[in-house]
Amino acid sequence: MASSLPRAAPDAHPARPGANSPTAEPRQRPAPRPHNGGRAPTAPPSRRSLGSVKDLLSAAGGLTLRPWHERDLTAVRDAFNEPGMYTQFGSVLDEGQVDDAAAGRWIDRHTERWEQGSAFSWAVVEGPAADAPLLGNVAVSQVNHVHDGGWISYWTVGAARRRGVAGAALRALSTWCFEELGLYRLELGHRVENDASCRTALSAGYLVEGRQRAKLRYGTTRHDVELHARLATD
Ligand SMILES: CC(C)(COP(=O)(O)OP(=O)(O)OC[C@H]1O[C@@H](n2cnc3c(N)ncnc32)[C@H](O)[C@@H]1OP(=O)(O)O)[C@@H](O)C(=O)NCCC(=O)NCCS
Repeated sequence: MASSLPRAAPDAHPARPGANSPTAEPRQRPAPRPHNGGRAPTAPPSRRSLGSVKDLLSAAGGLTLRPWHERDLTAVRDAFNEPGMYTQFGSVLDEGQVDDAAAGRWIDRHTERWEQGSAFSWAVVEGPAADAPLLGNVAVSQVNHVHDGGWISYWTVGAARRRGVAGAALRALSTWCFEELGLYRLELGHRVENDASCRTALSAGYLVEGRQRAKLRYGTTRHDVELHARLATD
């Protein structure tokens, strides 16, 4: 397992084609969306108000990060039904299959958490168009403004892998977490056998901090997890 310092600076991935051509202009989020019945959040999600948090980000390679939307339902369903993706869904499913209803609940859950300021999950798409093809997901959850921390996760669809998507999106998300949310420490963990996730973390500046024994159970098998973290000052 590699534990070296990252080779790429945050938000720069010059080896990727089109890395210098982001096409979407970040904009300010105008107001919370009415998924909580139009009520204002009960607590501020960050040191800034939710109403001023950016909800459209550009990443290297012409990628755009935006909140999840109901129109993503089919893409979400298909992404989670790819081999190896079941563990990313975050809840136990009948038959191990994600149907339209489960995909819809996943989108709703992430929309609600965004409104509450507890987690921010971003659809990663190719280019600036609203209906651009879905490439993956990057998220910060367990947002904690007592200790200024967050938990990072990510996945990409099979057809988008090994193109630099996860690394570029993770670098953009990390910058947003530090600059927009005011977080100081971001953590993530991956099963020790997940080299792709480990290298993605390293490529975005997340240093290895240690091994957590038997932390996860999938079926009857328990997995050790390697913990990575990046600080705002790294
Ligand atoms: C892990 C995952 C998100 C990587 O996405 P990706 O878009 O292919 O990643 P990138 O193309 O940005 O590659 C990032 C780094 O990982 C490396 N990498 C990607 N896939 C790899 C693989 N299968 N084996 C080894 N290294 C791999 C790349 O070479 C790159 O390293 P580099 O920066 O040193 O060149 C993707 O494989 C995935 O979604 N897997 C299933 C879900 C998952 O495991 N999520 C993480 C849970 S902790």
